[in-house]
Amino acid sequence: MDYLEITGPASLQGNVKISGAKNAALPIIAMTLLANNTVKIGNMPAVVDIKTLLKLIENLGGTFSFTDENSVEINTCCLTNTTATYDIVKTMRASILVLGPLLSRFGHCEVSLPGGCAIGQRPIDLHLKALEQMGAKITIHAGYVQAEAPQGLQGAHIIFDKITVTGTANIVMAAALAYGTTQITNAAREPEVVQLCEILQESGVEITGIGTAELTIVGREQKLIDFVPFDVIPDRIEAGTYLCAAGIANSSITLENVRHDHLEAVTGKLEEMGFTIETTPHTMTIHPTNEIKPVSIITQEYPAFPTDMQAQFMALATQANGTSTIEERLFENRFMHVSELQRLGADIKLNGHTATVIGPSALSGTDVMATDLRASSAMVIAANIAQGTTQVHRIYHLDRGYENLEKKLGDLGAKIERLKE
Ligand code: UD1
Repeated sequence: MDYLEITGPASLQGNVKISGAKNAALPIIAMTLLANNTVKIGNMPAVVDIKTLLKLIENLGGTFSFTDENSVEINTCCLTNTTATYDIVKTMRASILVLGPLLSRFGHCEVSLPGGCAIGQRPIDLHLKALEQMGAKITIHAGYVQAEAPQGLQGAHIIFDKITVTGTANIVMAAALAYGTTQITNAAREPEVVQLCEILQESGVEITGIGTAELTIVGREQKLIDFVPFDVIPDRIEAGTYLCAAGIANSSITLENVRHDHLEAVTGKLEEMGFTIETTPHTMTIHPTNEIKPVSIITQEYPAFPTDMQAQFMALATQANGTSTIEERLFENRFMHVSELQRLGADIKLNGHTATVIGPSALSGTDVMATDLRASSAMVIAANIAQGTTQVHRIYHLDRGYENLEKKLGDLGAKIERLKE
């Protein structure tokens, strides 16, 4: 198994190119199940989660080929199989995204239940309830969701009890091939959902309310879609992670290929902490501050502060001059990085869903464990300013979602090396 060895403290400087958004690319790959043509996608991030979902497409009978490292063409015309098996779904919960498209296209499918994950239970009840409202008959048998809608799915008014990102994406895709019109109330407004809707719209699906909590999708009665070629949007979480890496090292770096309109909650908090952010249409530069100020953060759905940036800000808060509070509202168990940051010397108290971080703390290198994708990146950016050598273990989490992390950070000046256990 690989691990990262990071020697600090190191300041950062220079430019880093942000990759395509993993969380936009995943629903987009599932969306190709609705295609009549070969779908051409650029700015595809080269990360393990993408390879996993492409493997699932292949298992279903689809084909794909990369024309360069970040451009892929996917063809699902001749799908034969409608079962998403446990061996793939268990490794990546987002595989559940194939449920809506498979069911609306074929009228039946089986998708393994994803099971729990490190950051909490993460049920899929809202996905299933919405599909049932669209006429699907769903049974759970031997760990699989078995879904049937022999006459195709029917448009319905779906009111999500809770805002769900992949739930919204699943139902948008299901609705695109349904019979009649689907209205989704309390839809997720994340940029990744917006991109999915925009691509469908540009490719001829009638969708209104894009970017709002109220989406209306006119179904195409199982007529497959001819997709236009497009590029995946830049990864706002990867961008935010590099901003935090610069912030914690109180350094100046420039991000290229970034959408600052997707990052307002994150840059707003960095500005509250004293950093200056300069933007041009596709770049963003963070400048150091005389004093890193403490911050108060509550994670919520977009456009509020993202849960996927919580761990990185906690690492950053260890260097603030005073007491920060971070409240996690989306996932019940997303504080596993607390004990690892404590191992590095952070002063953090946990009370229910709120962490109190008392800064500044001098961090010292030691062995830490990556516990989930974003927690892992928090370890890396903290290790970069810790005195001495830190070994970050279990970095397969990082490889799921960060393209060339050690190369990108190394080019910015971090002393980081990938080694084998
Ligand atoms: C997506 C992102 C993930 C991010 C999360 C929240 C992808 C591939 N993943 O995950 O990186 O952290 O949004 O921004 O895009 N819930 C239910 N029942 C359901 C579905 C969700 O109770 O059927 C709950 C969840 O347990 C959670 C909340 O709703 O408490 C939000 O989850 P959701 O938005 O669905 O997260 P994901 O789409 O899995």
